[in-house]
Amino acid sequence: MMSILFVKLELPLLLLLCPFLPLLVTLAASEDADFTFNGFQGSNISVDGLAEITPDGLLKLTPQSRQVMGHAFYPFPLRFKNTSDGTILTFSTTFVFGIHSPFPNVSGNGIAFVITPSRNLSGALPNQYLGLFNESTNGNPSNHIVVVELDTVKNEAVSDIDNNHVGIDINDIKSVVSLPASYFTPQNGGYKNLSLVSGKAMQVWIEYNGLQRQMNVTIAPIDVPKPDKPLLSLSYNLSSVMEDLMYVGFSSSTGTFSTSHYVLGWSFKVNGPAKNLTISQLPKLPRVGPKEHPKILTVGLPIITLVLASTVVFIVFFIVRTKRKFAELVEDWELDYGPQRFKYKDLYIATKGFRDRELLGIGGFGRVYRGVLPTSKMEVAVKRVSHESRQGVREFVAEIVSMGRLRHRNLVQLLGYCRRKGELLLVYDYMPNGSLDKLLFNQPGPETTLNWGQRFRIIKGVASALFYLHQGWEQVVVHRDVKSSNVLLDNEFNGRLGDFGLARLYDRGTDPKTTRVIGTLGYLAPEITKTSKASPSTDVFSFGAFMLEVACGRRPIDPRAPEEDEILVDWVFSCWSRGNILETVDPNLGSDFVGEEMELVLKLGLLCSHSIPSDRPTMRHVVRYLAGDALLPDSSLHELTASGLPFAHGEGFSNYASSYLSYSLEKTSTTQVSLIEDCLLSTGR
Ligand SMILES: *[C@@H]1O[C@H](CO)[C@@H](O)[C@H](O)[C@H]1NC(C)=O
Ligand SMILES: *[C@@H]1O[C@H](CO)[C@@H](O)[C@H](O)[C@H]1NC(C)=O
Ligand SMILES: *[C@@H]1O[C@H](CO)[C@@H](O)[C@H](O)[C@H]1NC(C)=O
Ligand SMILES: *[C@@H]1O[C@H](CO)[C@@H](O)[C@H](O)[C@H]1NC(C)=O
Ligand SMILES: *[C@@H]1O[C@H](CO)[C@@H](O)[C@H](O)[C@H]1NC(C)=O
Ligand SMILES: *[C@@H]1O[C@H](CO)[C@@H](O)[C@H](O)[C@H]1NC(C)=O
Ligand SMILES: *[C@@H]1O[C@H](CO)[C@@H](O)[C@H](O)[C@H]1NC(C)=O
Ligand SMILES: *[C@@H]1O[C@H](CO)[C@@H](O)[C@H](O)[C@H]1NC(C)=O
Ligand SMILES: *[C@@H]1O[C@H](CO)[C@@H](O)[C@H](O)[C@H]1NC(C)=O
Repeated sequence: MMSILFVKLELPLLLLLCPFLPLLVTLAASEDADFTFNGFQGSNISVDGLAEITPDGLLKLTPQSRQVMGHAFYPFPLRFKNTSDGTILTFSTTFVFGIHSPFPNVSGNGIAFVITPSRNLSGALPNQYLGLFNESTNGNPSNHIVVVELDTVKNEAVSDIDNNHVGIDINDIKSVVSLPASYFTPQNGGYKNLSLVSGKAMQVWIEYNGLQRQMNVTIAPIDVPKPDKPLLSLSYNLSSVMEDLMYVGFSSSTGTFSTSHYVLGWSFKVNGPAKNLTISQLPKLPRVGPKEHPKILTVGLPIITLVLASTVVFIVFFIVRTKRKFAELVEDWELDYGPQRFKYKDLYIATKGFRDRELLGIGGFGRVYRGVLPTSKMEVAVKRVSHESRQGVREFVAEIVSMGRLRHRNLVQLLGYCRRKGELLLVYDYMPNGSLDKLLFNQPGPETTLNWGQRFRIIKGVASALFYLHQGWEQVVVHRDVKSSNVLLDNEFNGRLGDFGLARLYDRGTDPKTTRVIGTLGYLAPEITKTSKASPSTDVFSFGAFMLEVACGRRPIDPRAPEEDEILVDWVFSCWSRGNILETVDPNLGSDFVGEEMELVLKLGLLCSHSIPSDRPTMRHVVRYLAGDALLPDSSLHELTASGLPFAHGEGFSNYASSYLSYSLEKTSTTQVSLIEDCLLSTGR
């Protein structure tokens, strides 16, 4: 019942009190004003013009546009006068502001803290009037306005000292006192300049002492405590200016430059010091200009970036280098040869990077390295053959691969290949006892040499391998380079013929009209220098020379021998003609050999060295003679003696060699020339 009665009474009562409303307000103001805004979210601030309170609590006096102004006032008028003696009471205020301009050091026009009898400043102008006056009202004592301006435009018309000053204005935009914006620092005992338009938050303190009639204005960056000395200190009797009830607030305007003016927090008190603002609670100014990075970013980030970038560059470099190092050539046609193809990387690892310690020897076709395959741990020999031309490689690889299918216990097994730019790598079974020539020649004495049994077995083995190449396989394979240095010894000292077919790589030159002679001096059949055509019978010729060197322990051409005996086959022939062929037997063997076998080998060697290809036996015959399945036909041996000079180089080595050399230099590539040099070296020329 009571409450209903009250509600019913309320409205008439308010209406009744209406004429006395200003009185009520005055009564409210009789209490000393004291308010604090740490940000303006939900505050009672009244704004006009383009001023607004942003969602995050900033008091935005002007937006970023030109020729605009905005005002913000505490909604209620405050009592400033001592009722008993009419003097202006002591008051104090502090606020934090920020000025944002899209340009680095220009903006306009500034912010003013204002004490005014009326909140209605709609007749005022922007620009230099800061939204406070217009031409007609400026300087008028009836304004009753007290202003502290933060002016960022120098306007001569209103006697501005510069474009970055703080001033106190009374009824007039022309300051009573003004100074460039700066703050006292005890460190250097002076004032330090600051830029109002820096976009950074700054704090202002305004204090008026009613007894001393003095107003102090102080400004400082937000992170600096209130300086001990004010920037401006003005003695002025405000009693003559201010009225009893006044509004306090801010005014701001722009002119030529569109500028945002912000107030972040504000505290005010009459009759005492204004409460301190809680800086941490203030809203943040929008970011201006380039993003400010913490030190870790400005200093650390470039370093981290640099380190990362260099790491990436290093890794990329490493990958590229590794890729290039292990680069190989693979073409579509090679896909069929998959199983026979080795990865260059594996060969590189196997040979420990083709280092010199793994080098087994240097032959006419390239260097040979020992290696252990990484996965299978199998011992292999890797031959690096360089070739310049791309042409012919395809056929050659096809042939090499098909030869990889050759299986014979006296052939060095070709396991596969790898191809790189300008280089071919052939992978063979590793032969632990090296090449035969090393055990035949330059041996100090009988202890280290091979005995006759071993030699005879090697000869028979190589013969059966050659026979297999010529006739035992689906196609005829001509070896082209039969010689003791191409015969390798396995762990049981079995002779194994190596390097078969390799000569073809050079035979297939870029120019089909150019024919090349491949082989080694002393083992080359005479007809080959004329026709350049290798055939099974030229292999037989080479095999003859090979048999003689194994039996005699001498190279086919031995420059250390007396001149007439320089050519081994001539010497053997002449000894045989004189009826003592066994004179030519390797002295390292002593008498430790089987006479019939030795004679057979020497005579067969001569027979194979016949200058007329058709008169040489075939490998089928050679194998049978060596096995004792057939006897050497006396007729053909008689023919040898009858023809007198059966060997093409019977007239002496020099003619033969020089004609051969000139022929080679004319028609062959550098590879062949080096090949020839190679064999000259090995024969000691
Ligand atoms: C704002 O003013 C109204 C009266 O006009 C008052 O009721 C309210 O409490 C005020 N709020 C603040 C935060 O001062
Ligand atoms: C007002 O003035 C009287 C007389 O000068 C003085 O006694 C009193 O303290 C003053 N009041 C304030 C609030 O300053
Ligand atoms: C802005 O600053 C630069 C150097 O800091 C100065 O050269 C230029 O005159 C300044 N512009 C204005 C309008 O003050
Ligand atoms: C402000 O004053 C003008 C006259 O100068 C008047 O037209 C206008 O209505 C007033 N505005 C307010 C909000 O009182
Ligand atoms: C100047 O401002 C006053 C008060 O706001 C207003 O009455 C007057 O019309 C204005 N004069 C001009 C020229 O704008
Ligand atoms: C501070 O600014 C004033 C005026 O802009 C100038 O004269 C003075 O040299 C400046 N002081 C320093 C320390 O830069
Ligand atoms: C103004 O500053 C001066 C000098 O620091 C000081 O003596 C005086 O008391 C200050 N006045 C006010 C009202 O703070
Ligand atoms: C201050 O101004 C008021 C009003 O004009 C005057 O009554 C008073 O005497 C002045 N005080 C002093 C100390 O000049
Ligand atoms: C404001 O803070 C200063 C120190 O920064 C302190 O000396 C002063 O007493 C504080 N004032 C108020 C009203 O809390």
